[in-house]
Amino acid sequence: MRMRFAGIDLGWERRESGLALLDWDGASLSLAALDVLSSPDEIAAWLDQRCGADAVVAIDAPTVIPNETGMRAADRLTHSLYGKYDAGAYPASRARRYWLRTTGFSQALEALGFKHGDAMPSRAAGRWQVEVYPNAAMVQLFALGRIVKYKRGTLASRIAALRRFRLLLLRELPRLTPALAPPRLPSVPAGGAALKRVEDQLDALLCAYVAAHWWYWGRALNDVLGDASQGYIVVPHRRAARVPLADLRQSYMLAGLPESDLHADPVAQFHAWLDQALAAQLPEPNAMTLATAGLDGHPHARIVLLKDAGPGGFVFFTNYESGKGRQLDENPRAALVFYWPQLERQVRIAGAVSRLPPEDSEAYFLTRPRGHQLGAWASPQSSVIESRETLERRLAGLEERFAQVPVPRPPFWGGYRLVPQTVEFWQGRPNRLHDRIRYRALPGGAWLIERLAP
Ligand SMILES: Cc1cc2nc3c(=O)[nH]c(=O)nc-3n(C[C@H](O)[C@H](O)[C@H](O)COP(=O)(O)O)c2cc1C
Repeated sequence: MRMRFAGIDLGWERRESGLALLDWDGASLSLAALDVLSSPDEIAAWLDQRCGADAVVAIDAPTVIPNETGMRAADRLTHSLYGKYDAGAYPASRARRYWLRTTGFSQALEALGFKHGDAMPSRAAGRWQVEVYPNAAMVQLFALGRIVKYKRGTLASRIAALRRFRLLLLRELPRLTPALAPPRLPSVPAGGAALKRVEDQLDALLCAYVAAHWWYWGRALNDVLGDASQGYIVVPHRRAARVPLADLRQSYMLAGLPESDLHADPVAQFHAWLDQALAAQLPEPNAMTLATAGLDGHPHARIVLLKDAGPGGFVFFTNYESGKGRQLDENPRAALVFYWPQLERQVRIAGAVSRLPPEDSEAYFLTRPRGHQLGAWASPQSSVIESRETLERRLAGLEERFAQVPVPRPPFWGGYRLVPQTVEFWQGRPNRLHDRIRYRALPGGAWLIERLAP
């Protein structure tokens, strides 16, 4: 799908406005135009001609609108959010005239079929308009501590700040999603009307980018402060600052694992920890990494869900013809890993794997929601498929086939049981002197408990 995204930094009456147009080809954005125009009619005609049928236009928002309280709810929110970044609004007295100009322009856009996009579904077709506050977008998208002030201050500081803003646009927009192909931007002039023109165009470019971000991500990665009746501003979520991986480290201090606390049986010990993970309301505490290797010896690892753990072993369900199914046919041994970071704990389990008896797989399959049951039939897990539509077509066919009857278990789907040979419990401790306790199965059913160096 082809889309266009336009940004406008509306100037004062009889002053110039900056315009930017981005083109989306289905994979990335490119800069299609930067321009400067004066009259609202010219601007509207420019947009009408270049935007085509599918476009989002972003207007640099007037941040203050006079009502009884002096501000719209959206503006108050923007102020409280961005005050700390020194990104305050224009003074209200200037904003009133500015607002009237913006709302007038917004009506002109509505007449051209650009609907208000505050409730726009993401990836929508059609013509839409939104309001954007570039200062807020700048601190959020580029993860800055404060705004780059290129509109106020001495000439020298404005020029330096505009250079910085230009470099940020050049460096950061190609790195974001959706990515902007590195644009050709005008250089920063030494002053005068030319300087103002570049300011307006770069502002417009950022507005156009926010339009694209809003269209692409919707509310998943943007907030809409306010609504079309009250006035609204689209604000991208703050991008998490990139932290060097080498700087990520955690000190573990929650608990220790003294031998005196251990159950004699590792499955009982596992249940004690799993119960604590459940009580701590960890997300998916039964998700575990399953590692397998076929005859070629290449290891493979993926997450599956633990569905039972008892004297008979650790049980999970899958497609017997999947990658892991074939590897386990060739080499019926596997390792499991649980990681519960909030509890600073890891559990590693290794042993022999066998298929569950069909009646046990049957019994579990019957407890699954009908949609999951049909999904098991529909997915030739780990095979290459043509498209998402292929899957959806298969599912629709199966819904028809099993419309009146309970869904039977597919013969190629069922459970595996891993009987542990070793189980290791790891508890994080300060200074990397973690506790590691390993249980090893001895002939006759007893367990040897050993402490390992961290
Ligand atoms: C949280 C989570 C839970 C999963 N649970 C299962 C599961 O229980 N069974 C399963 O077959 N795949 C599950 N998957 C998908 C697998 O990780 C994997 O993509 C799939 O089984 C195919 O792996 P394979 O090609 O190595 O066989 C899960 C994935 C995630 C992220």
